[in-house]
Amino acid sequence: MKSQKYSFSIFLGCFLLSSASFSKTKIDFEIWRAQQVQASVDKVFASMSFTDTAKGAVVASPSKSYPDYYYHWVRDAALVMDTVVDFYQQKNTNHSQAFIQNKINNYISFSKKNQETQTLTGLGEPKFYVDGKSFGLSWGRPQTDGPALRSLTLIRWAHLKLDEGATAYVKAQMYNPLDFNSLIKADLEYVSRNWNLSSYDLWEEVRADHFFTKIVQRAALLEGATLAQRLQDYAASDWYLKQASALTTQLNSFMDPGFDYIPVSQHYSEGLKAKQSGLDVAVILAVLRSPDRNAFVPIEHLQIQKTLNVLIERFQKLYPINQDSNRPGTAIGRYPEDVYDGAGSSRANPWVLGTMAVAEAYYKLAKFHNDQGHMQKAVEAFDKGDQFFRRVQLHANSDYSLSEQMDRDSGHMVGARDLTWSYASVLKANRAREIVFKKIVR
Ligand code: NOJ
Ligand code: NOJ
Repeated sequence: MKSQKYSFSIFLGCFLLSSASFSKTKIDFEIWRAQQVQASVDKVFASMSFTDTAKGAVVASPSKSYPDYYYHWVRDAALVMDTVVDFYQQKNTNHSQAFIQNKINNYISFSKKNQETQTLTGLGEPKFYVDGKSFGLSWGRPQTDGPALRSLTLIRWAHLKLDEGATAYVKAQMYNPLDFNSLIKADLEYVSRNWNLSSYDLWEEVRADHFFTKIVQRAALLEGATLAQRLQDYAASDWYLKQASALTTQLNSFMDPGFDYIPVSQHYSEGLKAKQSGLDVAVILAVLRSPDRNAFVPIEHLQIQKTLNVLIERFQKLYPINQDSNRPGTAIGRYPEDVYDGAGSSRANPWVLGTMAVAEAYYKLAKFHNDQGHMQKAVEAFDKGDQFFRRVQLHANSDYSLSEQMDRDSGHMVGARDLTWSYASVLKANRAREIVFKKIVR
């Protein structure tokens, strides 16, 4: 494995050196990126390979204290497994299709067990012990983005398997039109009947109606309707579409063109009350995690672009590590009023997954401009994406390990070590980069 990585870098280095327009910085970035991507794939699989966890559990972070993240979070697991579905589709990791499929099957069985486990909030339960037992202590619950994100990942997988002709497998393991308790259908039934329920947000702090939660719920219902249709579950398909359109109406109320940015939440009901501004990177994450064909708003939408710009501006001013103009990009946090330091409450820091989300947003914007035939704009957006990717490079540990946050003063990795979602965020941005890179003639 080591020598393979090494020879790959040499190969890449030679390739880039032969292209005169590449600077030293760019070569360093290319070499680091290849290594970071490889390491991130390995860390994703490591998160589901602990010996003391149930098969299929995806550990949020190996950290067991300050903070204790040694749990299977429904949200984190779904986002991470979505990258594993990417691996299967792209066939570009060192792992065989059979190995990847096995990991997904384990996740399927574990998720089924989660759904059947008695919890305080049914499918709205945010996290489970790594052996699958219900977590009964006090927590921000319900979190109704979980079933939506899990079904989005599994629906993609179901389509891939249907394309391969594995209809019996899909019906037995994931979606049986005759069985309301089958995995994907159970999630879609939950979402379609509970989207109006006030929920804790993805940051687990505020109970309200959230842009992120509503967007992924809507996307899950629309994607679910297409899958139901494909499996001849027509009545279900109609029902999911009907609920999705009701969600569209609710989401429209977030889109006031008079606002400088999209507010992250409405109708506060309980939890942390610090978020006066309503500005939050979760709005960007919402758009990134809903499939393009069912996007409520595309990344190039004016309100999204305004939100992105205000986020960058605010975090630029807020964090000392963003004050040095020699550094590429801007380190991006969750929201300006945040006080979560990664273990407790003091002063918040920028996050790896926030910064990578902005990189991914720019790569997707670059693709949009390219598809429109606007080369100059495409290249500009692509280069912006690289600035944010390189900002994470600047703060990443030299062994490619990534924690949750980057210290606002020093840039050092802080908070939960080896946060699996951080690695997933690198892989998602990298994938968006590769898709557009092939298209841009440079
Ligand atoms: C842990 C939560 O997951 C995190 O999002 C939150 O900011 C802190 N607790 C503080 O409430
Ligand atoms: C805290 C984050 O706020 C939340 O989004 C995440 O699910 C958990 N940590 C686990 O990583």
